[in-house]
Formats: sequence, structure tokens, C-alpha cells
Amino acid sequence: MAYQARAVVAKERGAPVSVETVHVPDPSPGEAVVRIQACGVCHTDLHYREGAITDGFPFLLGHEAAGTVEAVGDGVSDVGPGDYVVLAWRAPCGRCRSCRRGRPWYCFDSANAAQPMTLADGTPLAPALGIGAFTERTLVAAGQAVKVDPAARPEAAGLIGCGVMAGFGAAVHTGAVSPGDSVAVIGCGGVGDAAIAGAALVGARRVIAVDLDPRKLDDALRFGATHTVDATEADPVEAIRELTDGHGADVVIDAVGLPQTFRQAFYARDLAGTLVQVGVPDPSVTIELPLIDLFGRGGALKSSWYGDCLPSRDFPMLIDLYLQGRFDLDRFVSETLALDDVEEAFAKMQRGEVLRSVVVL
Ligand SMILES: NC(=O)c1ccc[n+]([C@@H]2O[C@H](COP(=O)([O-])OP(=O)(O)OC[C@H]3O[C@@H](n4cnc5c(N)ncnc54)[C@H](O)[C@@H]3O)[C@@H](O)[C@H]2O)c1
Ligand SMILES: [Zn+2]
Ligand SMILES: [Zn+2]
Repeated sequence: MAYQARAVVAKERGAPVSVETVHVPDPSPGEAVVRIQACGVCHTDLHYREGAITDGFPFLLGHEAAGTVEAVGDGVSDVGPGDYVVLAWRAPCGRCRSCRRGRPWYCFDSANAAQPMTLADGTPLAPALGIGAFTERTLVAAGQAVKVDPAARPEAAGLIGCGVMAGFGAAVHTGAVSPGDSVAVIGCGGVGDAAIAGAALVGARRVIAVDLDPRKLDDALRFGATHTVDATEADPVEAIRELTDGHGADVVIDAVGLPQTFRQAFYARDLAGTLVQVGVPDPSVTIELPLIDLFGRGGALKSSWYGDCLPSRDFPMLIDLYLQGRFDLDRFVSETLALDDVEEAFAKMQRGEVLRSVVVL
């Protein structure tokens, strides 16, 4: 018994998304069908709809989701019908050269569903980040469905499936923020605020939030920022240096992904400091830096894919911290809305009015 489901589809570059009826096949071996309960609207969905990720339209958007497993294919034993899960866009294969080197968080052959979901006319859909969760039901590789404590409400829990995990992990895993460190985060959307919360949680001494929008800076303070810099009023590099005794921060996280924010992050580091790039750049942009500065300033420039997370380790951990009141996932949920309102949510995101709009099904 395959499924018909309503789903948000981006059919062509830059065009508004539409809600379509899609076909979701029964799970084959290694796959699972998940009934989606909530899915956050991430900036990466908008990047997809703009054609800035790949040109593989049509896309089935949505990838920050929580729901309940409805059916599993043969051979699936880690999850079963009725399990409450958060969907992950990384399911390490255990066999690729990175997994074999003991670095499964970079897995180069992460699992996705083998069968395509399709439009009514049979056109295969490309699910955003191998998930596609702005839909009543989706088909994923069973390893992408990570069991978490069902006490966590889906609107909040789903957010750890992408932006929150990416930001938290950018600080805690990629940046390895340690107690006493000074940290600066450029761009305080859902991803940047999760980085701020992560840095605060592990004991950073100073957490400096930088944004162009005073509303975002207010939010950042509530996630644990100790200082804010309005980049429309002050030069972020100078301001971060002033707030760190003239030295720069130990870890600077670029959660925007523009050449100017990368450059700011590069120069706002202390000597031997770490830059973490988590914002996704447009494929057309380039950056030029004096090579002597790269050498002379030392340290590390690291990109962070999904916060270098291991979903099966990190999702249940973050949900436990949430349920214990130590990690405020609810604060990321600015509003809930229906499947038909995703385009409106993109506009609100672009106007800076929300941290996360969450589609509830
Ligand atoms: N690396 C990953 O694994 C990963 C995962 C999820 C999202 N992302 C990316 O992270 C980025 C942030 O995502 P989000 O959902 O938080 O987006 P968002 O739109 O909610 O937030 C972006 C924030 O950056 C601010 N900003 C924009 N230009 C700025 C500038 N020049 N200086 C300072 N602040 C500026 C905006 O005001 C906004 O608050 C996006 O590029 C997204 O695609 C990466
Ligand atoms: Zn692998
Ligand atoms: Zn995302």
C-alpha cells in the first residue's frame, strides 16, 4: 500500500513553491516511511528554491522534521512502526574511506532512500538534503530516522534535524569551544543562535553575537550571548577585538556565508584561533586573502558540515538537554504554520521576522 501525500515542491529556479500531491512508495529493504508531525523552515530550503544548491529540480523541500515511523522495509531493526524520530541528513555508511578512518561525521557515502518519491505524472523528486519533509509522509533510509524521547514536542524536536544541530555542532564539535574560551558568532539566525547556545553551554567566557538586525541581537542575548555587536553601526572585527582585550576571539563562527563575513571571521580571530564556516556560500562567490596573513595568523580555518554531528549520538543528547531545561529549543520556534504557508515563511525569514517558522502537519 503506497501513499499519496500533500507536499511542498520547488519546480523551477526562483519560482514560488507549490503544494502538490506526491507518490510515496512502500519502503523497500533498508527504508522507512515516516509520518511527519512538524518540519522547520531552514534557509537551506530557500537556497534550494533559488537553485543555489544544485540544478536538480523539482525538489521536495523540508528537512528539519520530527515524526512517527509508519512502516519499515525488510531487514530494518533499529526503528519500527510507532517509534518517534527526528530525521537526519547524515546516516553514516560505516564503509567509506572516512568512516574507515574513524571519522563517520564526514561520511562520504551517507545513506538515503533508494526509491524516488514522484509527482503524480511519475516525475522523480529530489528530496532536499535527502529528506523532503514538508509532506504528510516521506521515505528515507531507515538510518536517517533517529529515535528520541517522545516527551519532546515535534515542533521543537524537529529543529535539531538541521539548523540547531549545525549551529550547536559548529561551536562544540568543529570549533571545539572549551570552558573559558572567547567566541564570536557572525549571523544570529537559527544556526548562529544554536552556536551561541552551544558555546554558552560548554562554558565559554565571552560569547559575542554579531548581526545587522537589532531584533536578532536581542534573541542572541536570550540564547546566552554575553555581548552584541550591531554590524550596521560598528566594524565587527574592531568590536570583537575590543571585547577580547585587543586580541580577537579564540573561535569565530561565520553563520552567514558571505565573503565579507568570512573575512571578518578570519581577522576577528586571536592568533592561532579557529574560524568555523557554517553559513553556506553561493557557488558564484570567491574570496581573496593575503597568503602571508593565512600563514602569519596561524590557527585553523574549518568548514562545518552539519556541525560534524553523529545524529545517533547527538540527537538523543540534545533532546535530553532540552527536556532537562538546559537547552531551550522552544525559543527557536517563532511560529507554527500550515503546509500551504511555506512561501510566506520564506518571505518572513528574508525580512528577518522569524528564527524558525515550523510547519505542523
Ligand atoms: N553547514 C551546515 O551544515 C548548515 C546547516 C544548516 C544551515 N546552514 C546555513 O547556515 C546559514 C544560516 O542559516 P539560518 O537558518 O540561521 O539563516 P537565517 O536567515 O535565519 O539567519 C541569518 C542571519 O544572518 C544575519 N546576517 C545576514 N548578513 C549578515 C552580515 N553581513 N553580517 C552579520 N549578520 C548578517 C541575518 O540578519 C540573520 O539574522 C545559511 O547559509 C544556511 O544555509 C548550514
Ligand atoms: Zn561512510
Ligand atoms: Zn537546514
